[in-house]
Amino acid sequence: MAVFTKKIMITGGAGFIGSHVVRLFVKKYPQYLIVNLDALTYAGNLANLKDVESAANYKFEKGDINDEKRIGELFAAYQFDAVIHLAAESHVDRSILDPLAFVRSNVLGTAALLNVSLRFWKDDLKDKLFYHVSTDEVYGSLGAEGFFTEDTPYDPRSPYSASKASSDHFVMAYYHTYGLPVILSNCSNNYGSHHFPEKLIPLMINNILNNRSLPVYGKGENVRDWLYVEDHARAIDTIFHKGKTGDKYNIGGFNEWKNIDIVHLLCRIMDKKLNRAEGDSAKLITYVKDRPGHDLRYAIDATKLNKELGWTPSLQFEEGLEKTVDWYLQNQDWVKEVTSGDYQKYYSEQYGKAH
Ligand code: NAD
Ligand code: DAU
Repeated sequence: MAVFTKKIMITGGAGFIGSHVVRLFVKKYPQYLIVNLDALTYAGNLANLKDVESAANYKFEKGDINDEKRIGELFAAYQFDAVIHLAAESHVDRSILDPLAFVRSNVLGTAALLNVSLRFWKDDLKDKLFYHVSTDEVYGSLGAEGFFTEDTPYDPRSPYSASKASSDHFVMAYYHTYGLPVILSNCSNNYGSHHFPEKLIPLMINNILNNRSLPVYGKGENVRDWLYVEDHARAIDTIFHKGKTGDKYNIGGFNEWKNIDIVHLLCRIMDKKLNRAEGDSAKLITYVKDRPGHDLRYAIDATKLNKELGWTPSLQFEEGLEKTVDWYLQNQDWVKEVTSGDYQKYYSEQYGKAH
């Protein structure tokens, strides 16, 4: 094996955000060995990493973060210096259908990974790092005013956010109790290429393209704070290299949108790209039953990350959304592959046969 200055395990690297983080690290740091550990659930797809799969500093290992024996063997084989942990069940609607799957991967899986990391590192914690990637949803729901800061108390309200909050607490518990060097970041909603089409933006793009109805929950008034996925990956790079051990950082784009406004914007962009008459795609909008416990508004205050580590988002939303739509239009094979089979079953369970 070549001599690498760092050996990093990235979990969940075959998923949406994980694949962008793997790509960034593999390309930017040829001196690091990047090992992608992923169970390849419905959300994991090695096609997301085609462009780096044969890089000399990249390896894929299939495995579940709950499998302590397998993770231990990988630690022994690769002698990791750091873990960047993204593997998780990530979809709120699925967490409402099957909460225990979220407890297994997000809570028990994170605890298992912390446990193995501590076991291998405890005699020499110097220059080791467990970086945990989390979400703004742990902070709960905002009213019309205010922002989440790093000091906002946790108030998770969905099975997904409760499982992520619990994993965050375990990470901090390993720091305080055992001295495991950790860093945590909490990011707002991501969008961009390779996003599984069960989340709002890629689902709407795919449905507009296929003239399928556009299911907007409730009145479409809920607000999310959107960040381009490559900006999230850059933030993780910055925090990984410059962040303070034991600290946490919020990541967000100061970019709040009501869901219905995003859907209208996507309709306008796609009317142009598909040569449809203006207003055609918007006719597909259908208001459907609201998500139970639907958080009204998320908004991240990312001042600390900007002031202390100098990170800023690079893209304006409209520009990022255009790039995203173009990627989906140019990668229809990818979309067809991930929307075949189980996806259709999930879709009818979530939206009913009529949609
Ligand atoms: P994703 O669902 O697209 O990908 C998750 C990946 O984890 C998949 O490749 C899947 O195969 C893998 N995985 C799931 N369970 C596993 C297990 N038990 N063992 C090993 N691998 C497993 O998710 P994403 O949207 O890329 O999110 C990645 C991380 O970022 C998650 O921790 C999520 O909570 C967090 N996050 C996501 C967003 C967002 O907007 N998507 C925002 C903030 C934080
Ligand atoms: O805030 C960060 C979180 O963002 C991440 O931690 C999660 O992993 C990620 O999935 C995302 O969660 P959301 O629930 O905000 O994302 P989603 O794309 O599922 O929904 C965005 C908004 O759009 C939300 O208010 C629900 C609404 N929605 C979603 C779908 C799928 C609809 O109105 N219709 C839909 O069909």
